[in-house]
Amino acid sequence: MDSSGAPTTGDARAVRAFRPVPVHVGGGVHAGGGGPAPAAAFRWDVTGDPRDPLAVALRHASRRDAEPAVAVVLGTAHRSGDSALLLEGIARARLGAGGGRRLVLLHRGAGGGSLLRSAALESAGVESPGVESPGLRVAALELPVRDAGPGFLTHVARLVRDAAPGAELQVAGDGTVTRTGWRAASLPELPVPPDGPALPGGAALVTGGLGGLGLRAAAVLSAVRGYRPVLLDTTAPGELPRRPAALLRRLCDAPPGADVLTVDVTDHRAVARALGRVPLPVRAVVHCAGVVDGGPVALTRARDLDALAAPKAEGLGTVLDALGPGALRHLVVFGSVTARVAHRQLGGYGLANELLRREALRRAAALPRCATVVAEWSLWSGAGQAHEMGAVAQARRMGMAPVPLAPGMAALLRLLRWPAGARAAGAVVLTGPGDDRTFPPEGSNEWCNSPT
Ligand SMILES: NC(=O)c1ccc[n+]([C@@H]2O[C@H](COP(=O)([O-])OP(=O)(O)OC[C@H]3O[C@@H](n4cnc5c(N)ncnc54)[C@H](OP(=O)(O)O)[C@@H]3O)[C@@H](O)[C@H]2O)c1
Repeated sequence: MDSSGAPTTGDARAVRAFRPVPVHVGGGVHAGGGGPAPAAAFRWDVTGDPRDPLAVALRHASRRDAEPAVAVVLGTAHRSGDSALLLEGIARARLGAGGGRRLVLLHRGAGGGSLLRSAALESAGVESPGVESPGLRVAALELPVRDAGPGFLTHVARLVRDAAPGAELQVAGDGTVTRTGWRAASLPELPVPPDGPALPGGAALVTGGLGGLGLRAAAVLSAVRGYRPVLLDTTAPGELPRRPAALLRRLCDAPPGADVLTVDVTDHRAVARALGRVPLPVRAVVHCAGVVDGGPVALTRARDLDALAAPKAEGLGTVLDALGPGALRHLVVFGSVTARVAHRQLGGYGLANELLRREALRRAAALPRCATVVAEWSLWSGAGQAHEMGAVAQARRMGMAPVPLAPGMAALLRLLRWPAGARAAGAVVLTGPGDDRTFPPEGSNEWCNSPT
């Protein structure tokens, strides 16, 4: 993108990519010796569905005279009410004195670990003059959809009891325990010469398409891939400031043209109506709709969390429902590294992006002919909200490596060559050139340097 906003792409190698890899940390159901439930080290205060077998197991393992601890038990997908349960668990754990501030999340896909991570980071520090607080001690366990085999719940109760503060573990059906490590990765190569125009008649839907990054992505998809962009946004063209308005005009005037749909991506009917009028098959979706908002987790309400998540996770579902799986070949979802590492004041935003990733990867199962990738970007420089808010310089001081606009757009083009099919669907964290002191996170340092 040059200074006028015209689409150019830079060297995608200036962007660093990392893939999550499972790192084995423990054996299966019988590794702990089986046998009866472990002696309880905690007095559990459990929130969530009281009939969930996990909640029942924790209550059984609870001892009245032990240290208090809070557990939040959630299901397979984030449901209405789950944001409130997460905040309630955090609030209850904060009430615990000193070392009692222990909080464990158990879920089978609903997520929430990102919010707990930020809550823990924000709670550490000076409690009152001269009194340092260690803050919340959080851990998260992601379990299989169904408990497998005898002894599984005993195994989980033992893992919960022993989970170190900050642990985020995945437990497989056979009880094997892993955590997420990170491996430096290469993005798919672009063909030489670069892709010609897409199939005649192809359209690319960009949600949040009038936003800082959405508009630039649309320009690149049009100029380099030959798609006709369909820009879906709550912002109307007339509300755009001068420079993006000029870029939009150029996009609409140059072949293959562009369409603008002024629609809320969470409004199922309006989205279905608007997309039903698009005359071309939609080959690609780049989901950029989102709201950036910050604030400490302790002061956040459930409806704030839901409002942040709605355009991201729910919006993605709305668009995919309206399009159907038939023509779609590429789905690139704009997520954020805040879903992977804690950032002060961005717990709600991190949760929205975690739920977005989970929803995208769940949806990929129903898109066998589509290449699905969740791009979990660091912040961008040169355009986008962080740039507009003047947050880039501060992020650099914090050790982050922002993604420059032109190499970021070149990376987007490479993400459009992600392999198709549900098994290949995945997430990738993307940071800018140079060392990023905030990613991969400390403690995940079994990450491996060799690009795959
Ligand atoms: N910029 C970064 O550094 C960065 C880093 C990591 C990830 N991301 C992600 O990348 C995406 C694009 O970011 P950006 O910087 O371009 O943000 P942006 O300039 O704020 O663009 C987002 C666009 O989405 C629109 N939108 C919000 N809610 C919507 C809804 N319900 N239906 C339809 N449109 C809606 C916004 O409209 P309104 O202005 O009217 O709300 C805005 O035009 C976001 O999802 C963001 O979380 C950005």
